[in-house]
Amino acid sequence: MINVRRLAHATLTTPDIDRQIAYYTEVVGLALVERSKDRAYLATKQGLEAIALELGKGNALSRVAFQVAPGTDLGDVSRALGKDGVKCERRKGISPGVAEGIVLKDSKDTLVEIFSDYAFARDDGRSAGIMPLKLGHVAYRVDDVQKTVKFYCDVLGFRVSDWRDDTFAFLRCNTDHHTVNFVYDAEPQLHHIAFEVKDWAEIQRAAETLAKHDIHLVWGPGRHIIGHNIAIYHRNADKVRVEFFCEMDQMKDESLGYFDPRPWHQDRPQRPKVWGPETLRNYWGYGSERVIRGYQTIE
Ligand SMILES: [Fe+2]
Repeated sequence: MINVRRLAHATLTTPDIDRQIAYYTEVVGLALVERSKDRAYLATKQGLEAIALELGKGNALSRVAFQVAPGTDLGDVSRALGKDGVKCERRKGISPGVAEGIVLKDSKDTLVEIFSDYAFARDDGRSAGIMPLKLGHVAYRVDDVQKTVKFYCDVLGFRVSDWRDDTFAFLRCNTDHHTVNFVYDAEPQLHHIAFEVKDWAEIQRAAETLAKHDIHLVWGPGRHIIGHNIAIYHRNADKVRVEFFCEMDQMKDESLGYFDPRPWHQDRPQRPKVWGPETLRNYWGYGSERVIRGYQTIE
């Protein structure tokens, strides 16, 4: 098993790279790091590469990159993957900030790029758009959630933060409650990508920025119950569902085994658990409604 430490960049295919570059730079507020005819790389203003674009159909994730501890020997990564029966190969030039990595296929056949050493991108000096802190998580619809969770935990070193019955799993690789989520669907596909912003005020600014660009929310603002993040969602021109979130649950100490105390937690302490199928999607906001009949509430 290897130990992934963070989500790096997601590679999305698009039929119109120019349009997506305009969206990611002017609306999302990333910096364009490198551009060629059929490829582009974008990073946060803090220098974390977040999105790679390549020509193809819209709304599809072709690759996802994760970082292991800096300094880790990639040969050791290959050997550990081999021990787990995973075929992989070494590849140079993963991205402008990643000179070399190991490429493998996960259990749902998405290409995964693993690297240890990263060169931060330079700030482009522009102030535009929402300017998130980082790409926080990637959510995927998969036809076998258990198999995918087993792969991410046993091979890549993720831990399960929460389940919603047995169809929706939230996995962490660092203090964040989730870095990947997998939800059951007979047709595997990208569910959404999510960028972290600093706080609730930034969520408001994000919503205003989206509206200014005539992009309207499809869900939120609301506070999720599982993960407890405040979130807003919209779809971009490629129909990719994009979330901005803040205040996600934090597992600050794995040995303590609970999420850092928050006023809205249902349990004290809030530990990883299986939430029932009746669990509402939101604590407040759209998705938290129950139809009120007298003093009774029903879903
Ligand atoms: Fe999300």
